[in-house]
Amino acid sequence: MITGTGIVKTFKQRGDVLGGREVKALRGVDFSIPKGGAASFIGESGCGKTTLGRIIAGLETHDEGEIAIDGVPMSSLRPKQRQPHFRKIQMIHQDPYSALNPTRTIHQTLYAPLALRARQTGRSKAWIDERAAEVLSLVGLDPGSVLARYPHQLSGGMRQRVVIARALTVDPEMLVADEAVSMIDVSLRLGILALLKDLRERLGVAVLFITHDVATSRYIGDDGELYVIYRGQVVERGPVDTVIADPVHPYTQSLLSAIPVLHGLEEPGEQPVVPLESLDESKADTGCLFARRCPFRTDRCESELPVLGRTDGVPQEHACFHPERRSVIARPVSAS
Ligand SMILES: Nc1ncnc2c1ncn2[C@@H]1O[C@H](COP(=O)(O)OP(=O)(O)OP(=O)(O)O)[C@@H](O)[C@H]1O
Ligand code: SF4
Ligand SMILES: [Mg+2]
Repeated sequence: MITGTGIVKTFKQRGDVLGGREVKALRGVDFSIPKGGAASFIGESGCGKTTLGRIIAGLETHDEGEIAIDGVPMSSLRPKQRQPHFRKIQMIHQDPYSALNPTRTIHQTLYAPLALRARQTGRSKAWIDERAAEVLSLVGLDPGSVLARYPHQLSGGMRQRVVIARALTVDPEMLVADEAVSMIDVSLRLGILALLKDLRERLGVAVLFITHDVATSRYIGDDGELYVIYRGQVVERGPVDTVIADPVHPYTQSLLSAIPVLHGLEEPGEQPVVPLESLDESKADTGCLFARRCPFRTDRCESELPVLGRTDGVPQEHACFHPERRSVIARPVSAS
């Protein structure tokens, strides 16, 4: 189980003559991903998804808040003591080509982490070769034909499978897949998503999907939780099917309204939500972070910040003063 409480991260970006500016990448995020569970972070570019994923994987520090892995608060440990805990969480990046060393064969790529593991656990060289073949089989690759090859000799989909196999060499408890299919040929994407789902079922490894594509987030499975992030704040959180079928936050509704309709097969939702204006980050915010774009804002929204919580009659958590179900997503065309 990995939990985060009140995670805050601010970046200081170097500026020109006006000096740098601060970017509030995360504004007090809480999350909880159970052992073997699934979660998805969605939201538009720059909302803080990767930053949160990197913090969860121990690749980025945070300014405030606490991360606990299997009940152990990371703040109670020295950086070196945290390493074995963060090892349980492996990140899979967007670009499988840059994630692999082009001068190393797949065998060499897998050998290094496995040799370390063998040293730590007193295993033999034969075990390393066996395990290398095993992790490749787990990701649906034929070890015999892949081990001797270099990354450039593989397709994008195969390369991403090798990246996942490499992550499996350390027996992780959670995979953080950050836009893991966005740079892969469309025809191969589903295969990688199915693989992650399959690894979850077969190995019990938890999967965290980070994506700006709502359709991908749907793929995590019925028991997964969806976190909708807007400008560093979780604005809606709940079971994936509930949030997608019955979103109550206007931002979630605008994301879902933007999904293209399949002509002839679907009809658009009856109440699509279109944000009012694009965001000018230089304007100061008071109140709700979505207020300047929200078609439903009231005076209260402009002066008070809604926090994530529950209200009567709404199954999911949300950060909105006026949560309301709207029919925004495309439905199959009725047979009549
Ligand atoms: N190392 C950094 N230095 C300065 N600013 C950063 C850094 N990393 C991220 N940011 C800023 O923090 C904010 C959140 O970035 P992040 O990469 O987490 O967003 P994202 O949701 O993953 O976006 P995308 O969908 O484009 O990948 C952005 O405004 C980004 O410019
Ligand atoms: S709190 Fe107000 S401005 Fe913010 S999303 Fe809800 S209705 Fe819109
Ligand atoms: Mg990102």
